[in-house]
Amino acid sequence: MSESMLLINHIRKTFGIGTINEKKAIRDLSLDVKRGDFISIIGSNGAGKSTLLNAVSGVFLTDAGTITLDGTDITEMPEHKRARSIGRLMQDPLKGTAPLMSIEENLFLASSEKGWLGSISKQNREEFRERLKLLGMGLEDRMKHPVGLLSGGQRQALTLLMATYHPPKLLLLDEHTAALDPATAEKVIELTKEIVSKNAITCLMITHNMQSALELGNRTIMMDKGDIIYDVEGEERKKVTVEDLLTRFREVTGKALDNDRMRL
Ligand SMILES: Nc1ncnc2c1ncn2[C@@H]1O[C@H](COP(=O)(O)OP(=O)(O)OP(=O)(O)O)[C@@H](O)[C@H]1O
Ligand SMILES: [Mg+2]
Repeated sequence: MSESMLLINHIRKTFGIGTINEKKAIRDLSLDVKRGDFISIIGSNGAGKSTLLNAVSGVFLTDAGTITLDGTDITEMPEHKRARSIGRLMQDPLKGTAPLMSIEENLFLASSEKGWLGSISKQNREEFRERLKLLGMGLEDRMKHPVGLLSGGQRQALTLLMATYHPPKLLLLDEHTAALDPATAEKVIELTKEIVSKNAITCLMITHNMQSALELGNRTIMMDKGDIIYDVEGEERKKVTVEDLLTRFREVTGKALDNDRMRL
């Protein structure tokens, strides 16, 4: 038995309790994520996928249950403290970086353990250059440019580099390539694969792309109505096709798996 990195134990989250908009977004969900697991998460719109990642990163506290990260109970820990061990990327490329700051300033913030103290040294610049080169996007020659000038794909690649500059215990990806054109999305997926495997980062990735859900990582979970309805890993997962996923979803829920971004 390998060791747990993230242990989610019977969590619940209801939005708008007692109002006409009351919504049970997570219903009694448990998940044991092993160290080094790379899990893809799929499901229809409103299944609770983003809510699950938000609960883990601490955007809000859950109504019940516990969350343990690498042996530490983080159930009540505020978001900014969890951020020291949890990296995250969202769908919107504008969210992860400071647009008016330059590439090197953004990297300095990500690299510095003390926040914005001191100035960028020659040694810092050399290290940033090396790291940027790995992205293969030519950003190493644009270190003084404000990040706001970058394309969405360049910006997501930079955000990925920043989120993993000091490899986090856990990386949460919420459809981080969904806003990119297919070729750029493919490039960012490749970088994700490389960075996650090189640093053996434990990772949860939401995607609406069934094919990449099966190709990336070692385990896939399917969500519906705030719970996990299918969970497959290892050898068994290697035999699963996109068609199987769609069939499985229909069997369990009685409806077709439908996500508005699947057709984009
Ligand atoms: N902050 C919030 N306040 C109120 N309701 C919310 C909030 N966040 C999510 N919800 C509701 O909770 C349910 C789950 O939403 P969530 O965003 O987790 O779904 P999702 O699986 O990520 O869907 P999508 O594929 O569309 O991104 C939805 O009904 C949503 O409207
Ligand atoms: Mg979502």
